[in-house]
Formats: sequence, C-alpha cells, structure tokens
Amino acid sequence: MKICCIGAGYVGGPTMAMIAKQCPDIPVHVVDLNQARIDAWNSDNLPIYEPGLDEVVKEARGRNLTFSTNVDEAIAEADMIFISVNTPTKTFGIGAGRAANLEFIEKCARQIAKVSKGHKIVVEKSTLPVRTAEAVKRILSSSGNGATFDVLSNPEFLAEGTAVEDLLDPDRVLIGGESPESIKALCDVYAHWIDRDRILTTNLWSSELSKLTANAFLAQRVSSINAISALCEATGADVDEVARAIGTDSRIGPKFLKASIGFGGSCFQKDILNLVYLCEHFGLREVAAYWEQVVIMNDHQKQRFSERIVKTLFNTVSDKKIAVWGFAFKKDTNDTRESAAIYVCRDLLRERARLTIYDPQVPEKSIRAELTAACSDMQGQISENDKRLIEQNVTVVSDCYEASKDAHAIAVLTEWDEFKELDFDRIFQAMQQPAFVFDGRNLLDHQKLSKVGFELHAIGKCR
Ligand code: NAD
Ligand code: UDX
Repeated sequence: MKICCIGAGYVGGPTMAMIAKQCPDIPVHVVDLNQARIDAWNSDNLPIYEPGLDEVVKEARGRNLTFSTNVDEAIAEADMIFISVNTPTKTFGIGAGRAANLEFIEKCARQIAKVSKGHKIVVEKSTLPVRTAEAVKRILSSSGNGATFDVLSNPEFLAEGTAVEDLLDPDRVLIGGESPESIKALCDVYAHWIDRDRILTTNLWSSELSKLTANAFLAQRVSSINAISALCEATGADVDEVARAIGTDSRIGPKFLKASIGFGGSCFQKDILNLVYLCEHFGLREVAAYWEQVVIMNDHQKQRFSERIVKTLFNTVSDKKIAVWGFAFKKDTNDTRESAAIYVCRDLLRERARLTIYDPQVPEKSIRAELTAACSDMQGQISENDKRLIEQNVTVVSDCYEASKDAHAIAVLTEWDEFKELDFDRIFQAMQQPAFVFDGRNLLDHQKLSKVGFELHAIGKCR
C-alpha cells in the first residue's frame, strides 16, 4: 500500500504526517503545487504552527513521509490518493459569496484520471458539498488509460491549534463509500492506532453531508451563546455564568459555549454558506434562511464589538492608539483566515484609530495582507483611503508591552495564554488614562485588572 495526498495545507500536512508516524510500513507522499510550502515542509521551519507537529514530522520525514511538487509521479505510484486541496467560497459567477469553489477538486480529479494506470482508491479529504463524489467519479471514469477507481469520502474533523491531539485521538473517523474492499483498505490504515469502534462507515452522501452538518452545529452553538451575550450586556446577567449553568445539563454539554468576538477560521463560515447554497439549490428556502442566521449573527457580533469600543471611548477613536492583542482566529495557530480580528481592526481603522498589533505567531505580512483583502471588493480593488489607513495607521510590534505603550485602550482579540501572565501594573502605568481594556475573549482576570485601575469591558458582561 502506498499513499499520496494532493494538498500540503493545514489538513493535508498534519493528517499525512500522523498517518506516516502511525503506519511506518506505509510510504506517504504529500504533494502540492506551491513550491515554497513544500520547501517549508522539508525544512525545520514548518509552514504551519501547530503544537506537537514538529515532533510528528521529524519522526516520519525521510523514513516514510515525503513532501514534493512531483504531483504526477506521486499519483502514478500510489494505491490510495487523498485529495486535500482548498475548497473556498466562490468569489465570482453563479453562487458567488456562497457556493464552494470546486475548481481545485476538479483539477485534481482530471490529473488523477490522466496519470493513473491500474486500480486506485480516491479519498475525498477536503470538505465538499454533498454529491460531489458523483462529479469526481464521472471525471475519473473518463480516464483513457483503462484505470479503475473507487471513491471514498473521509472528511477531516481536526481543529487547528489541537490538530495533533485530534488526529492522535479522534472522537471518530468517518468513511463513506460503496466498495467494501476500499472501505476496508482505508479502515485498515486508521486501525493502526484508532479503535475499530470509533471508525464509522456510511454511504457516500451521508459522509459528505455530515462534515458540513458538524461544522454548522458547532458554529451554531457559538452564535447562540454570542446572541445571549448581547442580552447579558443589556440585563446584568453574565454570559460565562449562563454558559456554565446551561452547560451542566448533559443534553447541552459544556463545550463550544465560550462567548467571543465571533467565530473565525477557514471552515465555519465557508461551510455554512455552502450549506445555505445547497438548501437553496434544492428549493429549501426556510432551511437555508435558518442556517444563514448563524453567519448573520456572527457578523453582528464582530461589528457590535468594534462599535462598543468606539462608543465607550467617548464616541471617537480617531487618532487614538488602540493596542490589539492577538490576530489569529484562535490561540495556538498562525492561521488568520476569516479571523474576527480582521474585521474588528478594519472597522476601527475606518474610524481612523491607530492600531498597534501584536500576535505571537502571525507575521506582519499576513496581517497587512488580511486587512488589505478585507478592505477590498470582490474584484480585489481597494480605495486609496483604505490603502493609506493600512499603511499609516497600522504598526505591528513584537510584544504586548510595546503595543500598549501610550495606548488609550487594549483590545484582546485572540485568547493566547501568554496574555494572562503579563505585568499589568507596568502596562497600566504606560497607558493613556483612563486606561480601557476590551476583552473580546473573556480571557483576563477582570477583578485583578479593575484593582490595577483599568476600566474593563467584556463580552456578555455589564459594567
Ligand atoms: P490549505 O489552503 O491550507 O491547503 C490546500 C493546499 O492545496 C494548498 O497548499 C494548495 O496549494 C494545494 N493545491 C490546490 N490545488 C492543488 C492541485 N491541483 N495540486 C496540488 N496542490 C493543490 O487548505 P486546508 O486548510 O488544508 O483545507 C483543505 C480542505 O480541508 C478544505 O476543503 C477544508 O474545508 C477542509 N478542512 C479544513 C480544516 C482546517 O482546520 N483547516 C479542517 C477540516 C477540513
Ligand atoms: C473547526 C471544527 O471545530 C473542526 O472540527 C473542523 O474540522 C474545522 O473547523 P477550527 O476552525 O480549526 O475547527 O477551530 P474551532 O476550535 O472550531 O474554532 C472555530 C472558531 O470558533 C474560532 O474562531 C474560535 O475562537 C471560535 N469559538 C470556538 C468560539 O468563539 N467559542 C467557542 O466556544 C468555540
């Protein structure tokens, strides 16, 4: 058995590294078109920050784990080919802003059809709209080399920041397919380290749809608690207390009830919009509207937070310095895709605030690129005004102390652990007075900070 994976991103890289680590008998070849990304996977400086990943890669790389840009060669040699390429929201044409762009999936299927000989198992690892396997199968069946294929769906449930833990000890592995032999072949790979009773098998369509559904349910919980946070702020209830009180009900459960400035990441919004588009496509208008509300609520939460900062700072942040702590969409990742921080920063910039941003893992280049994209239209055009604001009013610094010096306010946008351990007396002394903290993650010790002298504003809490 030889494995190839097309796509060396946040999913392809860690997932294949874990398979290679746990299955020393299986050669695993990860390929990508992006040379810089492949070079990074082959270096000591991996392209993604993920706790514990360095060790996993180091153990397997050079033994049975290889990274290259030799896509055709890897496909030709493999018995099982994972497709783990990006499936972003379409930005053009029919379904723009909602449907998944399946261009990269289709290109992979065509490449596999072109290069393959003999029999191959093709595994959908990317998150896809339900019934995508139908199109993949049709493209594969056009192979002129007499090759035959089975298509499986094996969506990935890892979360960034905990990818290694999630891959090592997943709640379940899901495999959808038609051919019992191919399903067994993939089960055997995972069974190297995962109990058989945690490997679920379903038909293809259930597997494809379960991934979109899982992300929709998770995001819905975040939007639900964030909706309640607005009511808490208006009434004197405390959202963390409410979350604890409802989370102890075993039917609700305690996870994914942390109120925040809104969910981010490359998956939740994209997958819900995709679900909405699918429902509309099948004429299910009310179902589409139901799920779309999760995204609408999330946009509202981001906007509500930046508006609260402006209102609290005496209705103007123009020329005020705001220290932004954290830019990644959650802690323990360098990923900024759809980070709520982008939109909060954009809104503050458009109010003419001066932002001093610090994130322990996100480089300046990514911060500027994300802000530029958020200020641009669908065609990638940005106004001169926004461009100037990003150039002149954004400074990226290397720690929280530097960020907060002379600042009027601190905005905590990512829940990095290191933010809890700072010398808040020192930070307070160096700030403009009154010194405000807007804790968008309810991360800090609010009582302690109030004692130091800060004016605290948190999500779902009254002052
Ligand atoms: P990514 O953008 O980090 O990686 C995708 C990679 O595929 C890129 O490096 C790109 O260069 C490469 N690629 C695209 N077309 C290619 C082609 N034709 N040949 C070779 N390489 C090609 O994306 P990701 O975050 O790893 O996500 C991949 C898929 O997994 C998506 O469908 C996503 O929804 C899903 N997913 C992501 C997560 C997550 O936490 N990021 C979790 C579960 C599922
Ligand atoms: C998500 C899914 O959890 C994972 O199963 C899927 O494979 C990919 O998408 P990810 O986006 O990496 O994973 O991170 P996740 O932990 O789900 O967080 C997503 C966003 O929701 C983050 O911005 C996080 O800060 C936010 N969040 C999460 C909250 O605001 N409150 C919570 O209680 C949980």
